[in-house]
Amino acid sequence: MVLTTTTTAALLCLAACASTSLAAAESPAQNSTYYNPILPGFHPDPSCIFVPERDNTFFCASSSFNAFPGIPIHASKDLQSWKLIGHVLNRREQLPRLAETNSGIWAPTLRFHDENFWLVTTLVDDDRPQADFSRWDNIIFKGKDPFDQGSWSNAVHFNFTGYDTEPFWDVDGKVYITGAHAWQVAPAIQQAEVDLDTGKVTEWQTIWNGTGGMAPEGPHLFRKDGFYYLLAAEGGTGLDHRVTMSRSKNINGPFESNPANPVLTNADTTNYFQTIGHADLFQDGNGNWWGVALSTRSGPEYINYPMGRETVMTPVSWPADEWPVFSPVKGKMSGWPMPPRASSQDLGGVGPFISENDQIDFAPGTSLPPHFTHWRFPPSPSTFTVSPPATPHTLRILPSNLNLTALNGNYAGPTGQSFVGRRQQDTLFTYRINLDFSPSALEEEAGVSALLTQNHHLDMGIVMLPASASTTSFLGSKQVTTTTTATDPSALIPQVRFRGISYVAVPAPIIAPLPAGWANQTLTLEIRASNVSHYAFSIWPAAARSEAQTVIVASNAPVSWGFTGVLLGVYCTSNGHNGTTPAYVSKWRYTGDEQFRD
Ligand SMILES: *[C@@H]1O[C@H](CO)[C@@H](O)[C@H](O)[C@H]1NC(C)=O
Ligand SMILES: *[C@@H]1O[C@H](CO)[C@@H](O)[C@H](O)[C@H]1NC(C)=O
Ligand SMILES: *[C@@H]1O[C@H](CO)[C@@H](O)[C@H](O)[C@H]1NC(C)=O
Ligand SMILES: *[C@@H]1O[C@H](CO)[C@@H](O)[C@H](O)[C@H]1NC(C)=O
Ligand SMILES: *[C@@H]1O[C@H](CO)[C@@H](O)[C@H](O)[C@H]1NC(C)=O
Ligand SMILES: *[C@@H]1O[C@H](CO)[C@@H](O)[C@H](O)[C@H]1NC(C)=O
Ligand SMILES: *[C@@H]1O[C@H](CO)[C@@H](O)[C@H](O)[C@H]1NC(C)=O
Repeated sequence: MVLTTTTTAALLCLAACASTSLAAAESPAQNSTYYNPILPGFHPDPSCIFVPERDNTFFCASSSFNAFPGIPIHASKDLQSWKLIGHVLNRREQLPRLAETNSGIWAPTLRFHDENFWLVTTLVDDDRPQADFSRWDNIIFKGKDPFDQGSWSNAVHFNFTGYDTEPFWDVDGKVYITGAHAWQVAPAIQQAEVDLDTGKVTEWQTIWNGTGGMAPEGPHLFRKDGFYYLLAAEGGTGLDHRVTMSRSKNINGPFESNPANPVLTNADTTNYFQTIGHADLFQDGNGNWWGVALSTRSGPEYINYPMGRETVMTPVSWPADEWPVFSPVKGKMSGWPMPPRASSQDLGGVGPFISENDQIDFAPGTSLPPHFTHWRFPPSPSTFTVSPPATPHTLRILPSNLNLTALNGNYAGPTGQSFVGRRQQDTLFTYRINLDFSPSALEEEAGVSALLTQNHHLDMGIVMLPASASTTSFLGSKQVTTTTTATDPSALIPQVRFRGISYVAVPAPIIAPLPAGWANQTLTLEIRASNVSHYAFSIWPAAARSEAQTVIVASNAPVSWGFTGVLLGVYCTSNGHNGTTPAYVSKWRYTGDEQFRD
């Protein structure tokens, strides 16, 4: 079954139907109905807290890998409408080496203690088979106010051969970091005492080996009823992913495994929500417990999941002295009563609500929207200019020498790539931009991409190539007749190019000359999820929709892989050549059309 949420209805609801949705809140005994994922799209490894001291607000952090700004924070007053309020990693100086690592930011843990927010995470180089653990960098950020992202500190580094690190404050005043020791070396949950302001750690001790699943990781400690409860993930982040738990009267262990493990998993089920694991727990204002976890909407086939690992939420019952019981994760959930529906005015913060569409016209005096995401740092402060004086209402992009693939092995080097995108957050969507681009030098290119990683992306752009490079004289169904298709096969002409790169099979490149009359026109480029498994790449002159051509309908399997989720965006590159022609992007639109939940 397919459930439809029209995002516009959700938005209208925020503003207008607060009163009707208060029904549930009026009788506090009434359980809530809500839908997973709560943070659709590339939002893995959630870590969430409830902070009564900050106006009863829920905050969630998620992993961002090479995305910059990184480590998004979403906030909510009602557990239903989530708003991007900023990013922990929002300035290059906080962590310059994000420019160089191949995997970027893994699993953060967000905590509030003693008037401060703390975010502990790992910057990772995990290239195989010889991962160099001396390059894994465990780091601490401290911030006073997540609504003011400038309040996050620069990274404080600490020494640990592992990842998934989290801070824990014990009742006796001691402070600990718990983390997952590198599973390639000696998989285990380890712990040390830490000075969070300096990063000084004591010797690491193994406190739990898990229940025998691959890669015990994602540890979170909770103190309750005289026990230390240790939550962990096992089985790897794929179809075997599961949440396990142990407890001890002593923070150093020994930790006794829960006989009911795993406490949460969809492994060996046919559920559409798979790979559930890497959970965190928090208690709402009524004292009810909730779990968040990552999940992949793929079904057990696990072939088409371009949105990657998303954030889901599930109610948890946790009676005194007993182990917590998680509800199984599905698309439609029933859970504890929720706080009254908050109106949008109740939250500060800069970003959009999670279900908002994009209608962005790059107006003069504005800047890039907060949910726009680069791949690592942009090459220079001038790479992206909103509304340059000569071309208002456009985004000017200067080309990077590197294209989206850049250097081998998912490294880019410090020079960076000219890309900006936003997350695919709906099963079916339409993403569309207008492009003004008049290339003149060989391999100058600008276009749209569904980008998962440097080694997994599907691109459609305008590129300057010799006439002889064409693979077809048709663009979609349209016979291409250009004035320039010359007699001279070496003459450079603007061509439409679709190409992809992935570890799984991608369609052969399509290169077709721009049809007569399209050169130097404003063109519309579109990526549309035409169904759950395919993207349609289309192009037409902005002034002549009737000329629209679908260049290819391509499977999204090549961008369904690994740890991240698809970013839909624009790029401009000289493909390693000397081109300098900028691209001008306007009328940026993203519309969520449908959300599949089972
Ligand atoms: C980090 O810890 C490892 C193993 O405990 C040790 O060999 C190394 O010298 C430490 N590095 C620093 C910079 O303290
Ligand atoms: C974890 O496993 C290692 C290796 O088998 C063992 O030496 C160690 O005692 C175990 N630690 C705990 C806390 O169970
Ligand atoms: C309400 O939700 C909680 C958490 O899932 C569950 O334990 C409880 O049984 C539910 N109550 C009712 C009346 O359905
Ligand atoms: C498009 O513009 C470029 C540079 O502005 C120019 O060299 C080229 O001749 C133009 N092409 C057409 C077909 O008008
Ligand atoms: C999705 O679209 C593709 C291309 O048109 C088609 O081959 C495929 O069968 C469709 N899948 C579904 C589930 O409709
Ligand atoms: C990227 O650019 C390099 C040159 O820097 C080129 O060899 C490669 O073919 C390009 N490929 C893709 C898929 O972007
Ligand atoms: C870039 O320009 C220089 C100088 O004109 C030339 O020697 C070089 O071959 C060009 N490089 C590429 C990759 O086009």
